[in-house]
Amino acid sequence: MNIAVVGCGYVGLVSGTCLAALGHQVVGIDVDQARVQSLQAGKVPIYEPGLSEMILQQTAAHRLSFTTDMATAVQNSQVIFVAVGTPPAPEGGYNLTMLFDAVEQIIKAANEPKTIVIKSTVPPGTGEKVAAQAATAPHRLEVVNNPEFLREGTAIHDFMNPDRIVFGAGTAEGIGALREIYQPLIDRGFNILSMSRASAELSKFGANAMLAMRISFINEISRLASAVGADIESVRMGIGSDPRIGPAFLKAGIGYGGSCFPKDVAALVHQMQTLKIEPHLLSGIEQANRHQREHFVQGILRVLEGRKDPQIALWGLAFKPDTDDIRESPAIEIARMLAAAGCIVRAFDPEAMANTRRLLGDTIIYAPDVPQATAGADAVVLATDWSVFITQNWPTIKAMMRGVHVFDGRNCLASGKVSAAGLHYYAVGRTPVPPGSTRHGSVGVVVAG
Ligand SMILES: NC(=O)c1ccc[n+]([C@@H]2O[C@H](COP(=O)([O-])OP(=O)(O)OC[C@H]3O[C@@H](n4cnc5c(N)ncnc54)[C@H](O)[C@@H]3O)[C@@H](O)[C@H]2O)c1
Repeated sequence: MNIAVVGCGYVGLVSGTCLAALGHQVVGIDVDQARVQSLQAGKVPIYEPGLSEMILQQTAAHRLSFTTDMATAVQNSQVIFVAVGTPPAPEGGYNLTMLFDAVEQIIKAANEPKTIVIKSTVPPGTGEKVAAQAATAPHRLEVVNNPEFLREGTAIHDFMNPDRIVFGAGTAEGIGALREIYQPLIDRGFNILSMSRASAELSKFGANAMLAMRISFINEISRLASAVGADIESVRMGIGSDPRIGPAFLKAGIGYGGSCFPKDVAALVHQMQTLKIEPHLLSGIEQANRHQREHFVQGILRVLEGRKDPQIALWGLAFKPDTDDIRESPAIEIARMLAAAGCIVRAFDPEAMANTRRLLGDTIIYAPDVPQATAGADAVVLATDWSVFITQNWPTIKAMMRGVHVFDGRNCLASGKVSAAGLHYYAVGRTPVPPGSTRHGSVGVVVAG
């Protein structure tokens, strides 16, 4: 099928490239001319594992191309996916201007009946508004919601192996077009869940809020674990081993970030308040997330109290590993807080340096690698669990530092190895391990036979 994808960001690029790999003819459209030119030249403007290679393969096979010419791309396509940004609005909820503008352009360009697929995350009720907008077109335009559940860092795998593919359609025609597009995945046994537009929209919102809630939940429990001398790594196994609960998204740390959870939780709260439904539970999720970072930074500053011009090696800036995305990244917030408290922050991230430099300017120092970030540091602060950080040689790190403190904001380091190297290990919801001690052991859970 001939498909246009409006918006060549994280979601649009991955979806478009994967749809091409499924055998469709795809054109990606973006208003950002520099982005399109770079894509046309084979340079991918975002970091997502495997994406560059896949884009090169699909463009070489003439199944994928990029343009700024919306009108021609729309006219040549039967189905138009809209994957533009839906950023938070200052007054709460989402700013949907880019979505409605894109739909307006599609309406103007459409020369025959077509299907518009909303891939962007939107508040419940938006699909109906887009359908009303599309009803003003001279040709019939079906509107279907098809929310995207991919995770940055594993986006291609997630698109090609979806837990579920959600269709929110007003009509059978809309569903028919989407079925045809996803048929290769349906043939491989992946589930289609067909529902109303509002249900599809709320499924996406609800899924993100649920995941964010689990993170805030375990983080709150981690505060109690610290206070009573329990170990959150053992506790999360004790909780997550219950099959009714499961272990996913129960890892304590410095909290969630990214372009989705913070804004989706906030928008959900906003929409409920607008509808006079009190979001008792949901309004606490984001608050707990913010507190978690502040609490972590306060812990660092307490340990470094009295040290003149404390030097921090900040390991990680992206909101999670395997991406260059720093939107709402806890690491960025921590960099800001530490710099504001008078610390000299030298940061390194394998992929997110350029994005961070654009955002933070010269408020922090940018190191080209782990050793140059770490040399002379009083403390290492791990904020993103990239594997390059987890696999460091701790005696070498110790030899580079002037201080002895290691703060693990993701509970991902082997505490025994860190402390055996003569370093003081601090994690989230765990008792600190002084140099030379191996107190945490593996995870501290003994399975009785
Ligand atoms: N990033 C994720 O992990 C993820 C996952 C699931 C869903 N989502 C949702 O998907 C949507 C897109 O997210 P993203 O991270 O890809 O955003 P993004 O900001 O990376 O990309 C959006 C792109 O759309 C382009 N654009 C804006 N208006 C346009 C127009 N009128 N015509 C053509 N191009 C236009 C922008 O230039 C930009 O390149 C959002 O609603 C987001 O909430 C994101």
